[in-house]
Amino acid sequence: MRRSSSSLRRQLIVRMVSMMLPILILLWVVAYFSSLYYINAAFDRSLVRRTYALADQIEVVRGQVRVDLPVAAREILAFDQEDLLFHRIVDPHGRVVEGELNMPKVPGKAPLRSGEMSIYEGVKDGQPVRVVAFALSLKGTSAAGTVMIQVGETLSRRSAIARRATLAIVVPMLLMTLTAVGAIAYGVGRGLEPVRRLRDRLLARSAFDLSPVPLEETPAEMRPFLDEINSLLARLSEAVEAQSRFVADAAHQLRTPIAGIRAQAEAALAAGQPDQGQAALRRIAHVAKNMGELVQKLLILARVDAAENTLHLGRIDARDLMREVAMDWVPQALAQGVEIGFDETGDELAWVVGDRDLLRELLANLVDNALRHGGRLVTLGLGASTEGVIWRVSDNGPGIPASQREVVFAPFHRLSGSADGAGLGLAIVQRIARLHGATVELEAGSGGQGLTVVVRFPPLPDGGG
Ligand SMILES: Nc1ncnc2c1ncn2[C@@H]1O[C@H](COP(=O)(O)OP(=O)(O)OP(=O)(O)O)[C@@H](O)[C@H]1O
Ligand SMILES: [Mg+2]
Repeated sequence: MRRSSSSLRRQLIVRMVSMMLPILILLWVVAYFSSLYYINAAFDRSLVRRTYALADQIEVVRGQVRVDLPVAAREILAFDQEDLLFHRIVDPHGRVVEGELNMPKVPGKAPLRSGEMSIYEGVKDGQPVRVVAFALSLKGTSAAGTVMIQVGETLSRRSAIARRATLAIVVPMLLMTLTAVGAIAYGVGRGLEPVRRLRDRLLARSAFDLSPVPLEETPAEMRPFLDEINSLLARLSEAVEAQSRFVADAAHQLRTPIAGIRAQAEAALAAGQPDQGQAALRRIAHVAKNMGELVQKLLILARVDAAENTLHLGRIDARDLMREVAMDWVPQALAQGVEIGFDETGDELAWVVGDRDLLRELLANLVDNALRHGGRLVTLGLGASTEGVIWRVSDNGPGIPASQREVVFAPFHRLSGSADGAGLGLAIVQRIARLHGATVELEAGSGGQGLTVVVRFPPLPDGGG
């Protein structure tokens, strides 16, 4: 049996059987002993009647106890289809006047007082028996003391009836239980049929089919589960679509410079003059450098997308990291004639939890943008409060019009007239921020000029900022 189908059905059956089994055993025991109780009551009554009938036959003649049993009475006393009947009469001197010599003893230490009766169980000739003992008083006769009358029988009929009565109760119960188990097994099998059909349909699907799983004919209990699967499929197909759009865009981006390189290379080959060839080679080198940067950014983006499960999280001093990145860019800023400044209020601790390499990449992209697309002044700002840490990267360049501040985050999106670039920097920034639970906003720079990029980190869980 396959594990998948064994679980639910087998669990139900095992639980049901393990619940019913002790109940059935208990029922068996209770049924047997309670029916034996009533059977004993009925059978004991007839045993007592026989004892009294025997007592009626006892007479005392000249101080001697005598029993005069007619043949018919003797037969009644000894005859039964299944059980062995026996009796004994003992006179006040302990002599057996009539019946068996060997008889199970009356329980209890003291002998029966006159007129007293005892019903007890014992063993006779290796067989369990039930015996009625009666002490008949001889008062008013010519003898004194009591005569002990004992009448007994074996128990075959009693236990046979008790067994039959028990079976009459337990067997229907057993049948009922088996029927219920069968019904459950069948019902669960039927109930899971739609699940099996669903599985077959999913198995038959191609890997590219991310359409929702059909809900009709599925049991209501599975709806929440299937709804989740469908919403996962929806997200997955969105992601796959975005991914293939991205690949198409990337291919498109690469095609143009490759075509350029090829054209330049052909031009170099066809060039008659050495300096014409040199110029073409320089153009090839330039395009190849841009292409290298594009590929580098594509790799970073791919790494960020895959980083979700491999983040090297740690407590990072955001102020420290900001200064470090700024220092890295100072030479290039100097070369471009751009001034990099800091704008920090106070010197409170500015801890963020994050992946140091990725956060450095984030800041580097913002500084790169400010240097590439901004003006002559670049300012790195930091704010730390109970609401979390904020990074601000501002420049006094042309800025980004409000209508474009959303779309520039899309991969490959660049404003017309922008300097060279792949259009991947802000996409990288946004994804790294998202990985850290941070937000990125574009605002107009101070005085309405230029651009300020604001990165807001959530406060640390322990409240330390
Ligand atoms: N500081 C800025 N000032 C003005 N425009 C900007 C600034 N930063 C970004 N932009 C605009 O947003 C576009 C997208 O920026 P993004 O960083 O994503 O790409 P890129 O800088 O063009 O290329 P990449 O960063 O991949 O080399 C830029 O092309 C530019 O038009
Ligand atoms: Mg950029």
